Amino acid sequence: MGCGLDDLLRVDLDRLWQWHIDMAKLGATENGGVNRAALTSPDIELHWQLASWARERNFAVEIDDYGNQFMRRAGSDPNSPPLVSGSHSDTQPTGGRFDGISGVLAAVEAMQVIDEAEICTRHPIEAVIWNNEEGTRFRSCDMGSAVYVGDAPMKYVLTEVDQEGVSIETAVDALRRKVNWASVRKLGTPMAAYLELHIEQGPILETENVDIGIVTGIQGTRKFEIRVTGEEAHAGTTPQSDRQDAFLDAVNIVNALREVFHDPEDKVRFTIGRFEVSPGSLAVVPGRVLFTIDFRHPDDSILQLLGDQVAEVCRKEAIRCSVQIVETKSAQSTLFGSTVQDVVKESASQRDYSFKYLASGAGHDARHMNSFCPSGMVFVPCHKGISHNENEYASPESLAKGTQVVVDSLLMMDRII
Ligand code: HGY
Ligand code: MN
Ligand code: MN
Repeated sequence: MGCGLDDLLRVDLDRLWQWHIDMAKLGATENGGVNRAALTSPDIELHWQLASWARERNFAVEIDDYGNQFMRRAGSDPNSPPLVSGSHSDTQPTGGRFDGISGVLAAVEAMQVIDEAEICTRHPIEAVIWNNEEGTRFRSCDMGSAVYVGDAPMKYVLTEVDQEGVSIETAVDALRRKVNWASVRKLGTPMAAYLELHIEQGPILETENVDIGIVTGIQGTRKFEIRVTGEEAHAGTTPQSDRQDAFLDAVNIVNALREVFHDPEDKVRFTIGRFEVSPGSLAVVPGRVLFTIDFRHPDDSILQLLGDQVAEVCRKEAIRCSVQIVETKSAQSTLFGSTVQDVVKESASQRDYSFKYLASGAGHDARHMNSFCPSGMVFVPCHKGISHNENEYASPESLAKGTQVVVDSLLMMDRII
């Protein structure tokens, strides 16, 4: 399956890198990272800049009810569903300059390269910005793609509000007011295929000096919010025997959970990333604790076995307090089909890029796309695998090679799908 690669279709490394520099200014932190929560003003500015780029090229711009943004270059057959590439633009609070946005910019650059080469594709080609992949502003992660394909019912998420009480609906309205020429995209509109470029967020490609990761699948995950409720009391006058200390019960729960999730093979990924004690005052016995659990594993039976123990452990260890357990995300491991993997391999081979197959430890929107249309991912190396950290880094050369694979793969899929 030759790609018929044409040097006209070369990615412009400098232009791609400049896009990364410009996007990193939106939500830039003083330590060189990015804090750009879903549909906050820097994120809406990003959507507007990319929508303006699309408008300059007469690409259609659409926004759906969850705030996912699509930019489409027309194909010769208007009845063909689009070939879609993209990722997310939101970041962790101390996020890096590449997680998510590199996939969006790869899709943007790929569309521009194809457009400048005046290639007439049968399928429309779309770049997508999925909303709220990190799940930091609104619960839970990968929500834009989950809602789009129907894995999370829209009615459930409409009620979600951020810590200031702002709803998804209000945030999407703000986006629509800014990108006021976008038309409405219906959730679930069919796609011909989906390809997402992402930094690996692990050390394998860099350590083994490999250019391209062909992603075989994404491990499963279960996420929880645990609320322990006791009673606030005076630290000086309340005897220990009379206390309903939410912090002490929460500590007992966490220690018991660490026993359950202990894995000598180090395959279990168990993280308590958020632990809030209220009212958080020196002389007050804590009345409330909120903490999160992020559990991941490639084996669904382990995901089930250990994940099902969370509620039981919480109830058993909350001696003096009440405890509420909410499971905010549950997704089994997913394996990508061969369609996307094959074109990514073909492109890497023809471009003489080294490549290897590997599974993703991190979650991505491609997880939800995989049950919706032929889907897959291409990984590029990132420095020491650092991610969800302001020191995250990927080189212009790595990003350009991965983006070149996106260009080639979209054009190959246009011919074979
Ligand atoms: O958490 C994840 O795996 C993704 O980076 N949001
Ligand atoms: Mn990501
Ligand atoms: Mn991330």
